[in-house]
Amino acid sequence: KKILFIASECVPFVKTGGLADVVGSLPKAFDKEKYEVRVIIPNYKCIKPEWKEKMNFVTSFYMDMAWRSQYVGIMEMKYDGIQYYFIDNEYYFAGEKPYGYIHEDVEKFAFFSKAALSILPVVGYQPDIVHCHDWQTGLVPVYLKDSFHEGGFYVNMKSVMTIHNLKFQGIWNIETVQDATGLDMSYFTPDKLEAFGDANYLKGGIVYADRITTVSNTYAEEIKTPFYGEHLDGLMRARSGELKGIVNGLDYKEWNPQTDQKISARYSVGNFRLNKVKNKLALQKELGLPQDKKVMMIGIVSRLTDQKGFDLIDRIMDELCQDAVQIVVLGTGEERYENMFRHFAWKYGDKVAACIYYSDEMSHKIYAASDAFLMPSLFEPCGLSQLMSLRYGSLPIVRETGGLKDTVEPYNEYEETGTGISFTNYNAHEMLEAIRYGEEIYYDRRKSWNKMVERAMNADFSWEHSAKQYEQLYEEL
Ligand code: ADP
Ligand code: GLC
Repeated sequence: KKILFIASECVPFVKTGGLADVVGSLPKAFDKEKYEVRVIIPNYKCIKPEWKEKMNFVTSFYMDMAWRSQYVGIMEMKYDGIQYYFIDNEYYFAGEKPYGYIHEDVEKFAFFSKAALSILPVVGYQPDIVHCHDWQTGLVPVYLKDSFHEGGFYVNMKSVMTIHNLKFQGIWNIETVQDATGLDMSYFTPDKLEAFGDANYLKGGIVYADRITTVSNTYAEEIKTPFYGEHLDGLMRARSGELKGIVNGLDYKEWNPQTDQKISARYSVGNFRLNKVKNKLALQKELGLPQDKKVMMIGIVSRLTDQKGFDLIDRIMDELCQDAVQIVVLGTGEERYENMFRHFAWKYGDKVAACIYYSDEMSHKIYAASDAFLMPSLFEPCGLSQLMSLRYGSLPIVRETGGLKDTVEPYNEYEETGTGISFTNYNAHEMLEAIRYGEEIYYDRRKSWNKMVERAMNADFSWEHSAKQYEQLYEEL
């Protein structure tokens, strides 16, 4: 079978979050005998020159887009066994970042979605299944049933829409969207693209796709409720027959403490007791924290947004900093959270280090150096950071929601089972209690802690199992 992934980001070319990790690693996990997977992403200006140099120009043409005609350049690259295409258009993809203002993005991704389908006959690839990711590609299933339906080429293509985050839907006023997309007015009704008076890309994708998936079982259930449903819970209930949760995996080649060249000392389940701590000492030195191999280091690597529970952390930081802990944060995002961590790093200079920037290398160092990993999300479709921390033996402390609930098994001190510590309610002191429970195990019952690290490092979240579930879904179609 031929599969086509269309997405707005993909590792190693461009990444703002977990979506890029998934689009970059899942295609490699399918059975190569049975599935050919190709990937289309935009050719953003911000893709590094080292990648741009490896791209080949295929051809270009002009595509009708609403009332004008737009340049579509096709670049291609074969990398790590996967065929990639990059849609080129200097007007739309010239930004320093993949995303900008929403009114620009809705036009940008309408163009991208239509262009991605338009290049298929040109490059001679006729997929059986078009697999779309998040709101940026929500129009793809719509276009497939609309303008592309005529003419034999597209008629048999089925579409899958994967929701990585229901919070972002691509909402803008109908007049502008109609103008940008060229879709006629009949599409902008509440049973199609309209929601609460506006046009909604993700809703379009969900309504028109043949199948819908999201990235964990628990999130698939949660989004049918008003609390997590982001105003589309009714639609999620209505389409629950076609909605399936498939938990994300991790690229175990890229994320492997035994071979990782980005960290100071490599280690395995067999020797982490001896070698993991070298990473802690090195990171303490690099970040100007007191070098102390005994102190419990808590890591955070995250987009700094409301989703991730930073208001809880804000609430208890002063209390937490009375304890024997070090807290190392890597993240960018909302200014108030960036400043919050800068503030605490200033106030508790020997306990808190704030790295307010984006760095893949630093993220590896933190996963390897820290003893625990804090991720108290308000909601979490899947979460990859906790999978990375499990893999690196940094025990996750998480709120029981979405993928966090499905991937972190709570510690049970009576049976000595579990891979992390969790709490239920979105409450700062419930979180603090969970952290302090962790401190107690770490300081007073080190044997139990180390056993838990072993279980965490042995937990299997490679793609194999989840890729099988996607394969099964493709077969059903
Ligand atoms: P989300 O997609 O909601 O941001 P995930 O946990 O699925 O959450 O994925 C986050 C990914 O982004 C992980 O690979 C994490 O390591 C990475 N990441 C987040 N912030 C940074 C940062 N400042 N520097 C480097 N990597 C980061
Ligand atoms: C989104 C979600 C995150 C998920 C990622 C990849 O960004 O916030 O939970 O892991 O997509 O699916």
